[in-house]
Amino acid sequence: MAKVKKMYVCEECGHETSGWLGKCPSCGAWNSFFAMKEAATKAGDRSGSWLQPQEATGGHELINLSSIQVKQEVKQASSIAELDRVLGGGLVRGSLVLLGGDPGIGKSTLALQILGNCDFANVLYVSGEESASQIGLRYERLGLSDKNIPLFTTTKFSAIEEVLTLHKPSVAVIDSIQTVYSNELPSAPGSVAQVREAGMGFLRLAKTHDITIILTGHVTKEGAIAGPRVLEHMVDTVLYFEGEKESPLRILRAVKNRFASTGEIGIFEMTEKGLLSVDQATSLFLDGKAKNVSGSVISAVLEGTRPLLIEIQALTVQSNYGTPIRMTQGIDRSRLVMLMAVAEKKTKIDMSVLDAYVNVTGGLRIKGTSVDLAILVALLSSLRDEPVSVDAVVLGEVGLTGEIRSVPRIADSLEEAYRAGRNHFVIPASAKSNLRRFEKKEDVKVYYVSELNEAYDLLFSKESSL
Ligand code: TYD
Ligand code: MG
Repeated sequence: MAKVKKMYVCEECGHETSGWLGKCPSCGAWNSFFAMKEAATKAGDRSGSWLQPQEATGGHELINLSSIQVKQEVKQASSIAELDRVLGGGLVRGSLVLLGGDPGIGKSTLALQILGNCDFANVLYVSGEESASQIGLRYERLGLSDKNIPLFTTTKFSAIEEVLTLHKPSVAVIDSIQTVYSNELPSAPGSVAQVREAGMGFLRLAKTHDITIILTGHVTKEGAIAGPRVLEHMVDTVLYFEGEKESPLRILRAVKNRFASTGEIGIFEMTEKGLLSVDQATSLFLDGKAKNVSGSVISAVLEGTRPLLIEIQALTVQSNYGTPIRMTQGIDRSRLVMLMAVAEKKTKIDMSVLDAYVNVTGGLRIKGTSVDLAILVALLSSLRDEPVSVDAVVLGEVGLTGEIRSVPRIADSLEEAYRAGRNHFVIPASAKSNLRRFEKKEDVKVYYVSELNEAYDLLFSKESSL
């Protein structure tokens, strides 16, 4: 007989214990534990597992690794170029994918486009969010009218399970995981417990029936632990959309992928006819840049194999509060705090009386340090109210001692920026040895800096050649 273990799970944060508790030790919520049956643990019962047990030892199963029949992962291109780039080739058969992002960013659009464009024989779109006519409207808008896409509108997990098991699609979209509801749990749809339970259910379905399942999920910028974040560890692939509502640019980033590296981003443009893949993206994030204004600097970041030119905007004003404001969009706030500390030490400018705001235009979120110098230059430009030369591309990491360090694959970034029409570069002196060929281009001017003050002198002194 299979032994069914009882588990208690916190409805608020998903914390598990073997006994009921009045207060959750993890999130502090009161009276939030409810009982949940855990899967059978009987020897031999490996429901949901695709490995066959080979030996049994004291009631526990051990599998000899050499005896496992390795399944070749079948990757199938989705025919959406930027999605395939992020996925490292395509969707893997039988994998579970989480597609997250802010409401309204384009998750449902991309999900429907995947079903419409891929060559998978049999697909299914499950929606618990929108009415059939709303989805039909989108389907027409995306120009998919000749595609056969069955739609199932429900929020019940058991119903979806039944349809998936009978219909056996090769790809299914569940839009969204927050609406899926299991009667066996007392908590409301969208709660951590429901999302987790549904996630586990879809994982089992994906693996046992070899269905590629794409779950969409709303994740707010604040990234609250509730909701789809609890699924990150159980799914095979996690994709997040980034972007600003006002801009048509959408970035798709893989934060986890069991089948490929997660370095590449996908760039899309939201158009009248849905999301279009953008290949030539180098200067895309510069659109709308005002020329010759203070507080604006062009820099470059390497996203996967693609260098992108971006605009860093900074604003400094006299602070009216005891603690000055440090506000960022697109870069890490603590990085800004550190960079301002370095600048204060090196330039003797009192930063504690200044509020600082730093923005990356276009909605890109930057993880690397290649824009450090550009951030500090933009801040000083705003402080002095002096524009930086419009054509200059400023690149470099800033260390704690104010030294300017090189950034990875700088030659590629400069080549790409040059191709996009840029020819003035302020870059770390330590990169010189990699740039001998690049420097020789006739119309290129490269300025090497090894220290923060050197960069400031170069960009802001009256005698500067820039
Ligand atoms: P949607 O995919 O519904 O977002 P999500 O599922 O992430 O909540 O996309 C919503 C936005 O996209 C909405 O503002 C309308 C816009 N949109 C277009 O601009 N073009 C299109 O072809 C489609 C389908 C949507
Ligand atoms: Mg949606």
